[in-house]
Amino acid sequence: MKDQFVIAQISDLHIKAHSKLSYKKVDTLQAFKHCITYLNELTPRPDLVAITGDLTDFGRSDEYDAFKEVIASLKLPWVAIAGNHDDRTNLRSACQDQPWLPPESVFFNWSIDHLPIQIIGLDSTVPQKPWGEFCEKQQQWLEHTLSQHPNKPTVLMLHHHPFLSGIGHMDAQNLRGITRLESTLKKHPQVQRVLCGHLHRFITTTLAGTTVCSAPGTSHQVAADFRLDGPAHFSLEPAGMLLHRWHIAHGFTTHYLNIGNYGPTYPFYDANGLID
Ligand SMILES: [Fe+2]
Repeated sequence: MKDQFVIAQISDLHIKAHSKLSYKKVDTLQAFKHCITYLNELTPRPDLVAITGDLTDFGRSDEYDAFKEVIASLKLPWVAIAGNHDDRTNLRSACQDQPWLPPESVFFNWSIDHLPIQIIGLDSTVPQKPWGEFCEKQQQWLEHTLSQHPNKPTVLMLHHHPFLSGIGHMDAQNLRGITRLESTLKKHPQVQRVLCGHLHRFITTTLAGTTVCSAPGTSHQVAADFRLDGPAHFSLEPAGMLLHRWHIAHGFTTHYLNIGNYGPTYPFYDANGLID
């Protein structure tokens, strides 16, 4: 078994078709292309790319076509979950050739069991609603899935944030059923990372003793405005991603990376020691 496994988490691509800009400002497709180039050049290569929802902006089939065209150039395996901007049926067809594609069901849930860590994709979306939900039915599915590998380090992916971030307009559309999720996590302490998107920012907190991370967006970010009645605004802060590195002896560490071309790396030392 490999003693290290690295997941690159990207989120909230909001792909549009036919060169349209998101919110008439953001070229999300171009940003996604940059993200793919960046992922392909990472050294060492991540083992898996995990997309935590909002692959498209309006869930339209032509937007998924644009997504598929770009993801085809990714040289790494990938998995994805649904976000509130996705359409379950169109998302399913975009993932048709993926080995982890789950059988047809109401929810787009899946679990990957053959890797050193278990990775679970949980569908938190409520059709046509911006908020998410962890309902009783989903709790039953998750608890059954977690009970299959109680001793395996596990990563749970869901789109909606199961916490309050302080950003008022986003917290009004977070996950409903947080207490339910908390009780499930308490019963299954093998879940060592809960990965979400939706917030378009890197935010970390804890829930039931486990670490929760929301990933930055691959194009635009939600403004860090902590007023309850703050406006629903985004900014063009640098795009980013998270690397969740698991090591058999050290467990998980999470790294934040800005997506961009920052040139080569430089040495701290030369033949005389630390460069003065
Ligand atoms: Fe989003």
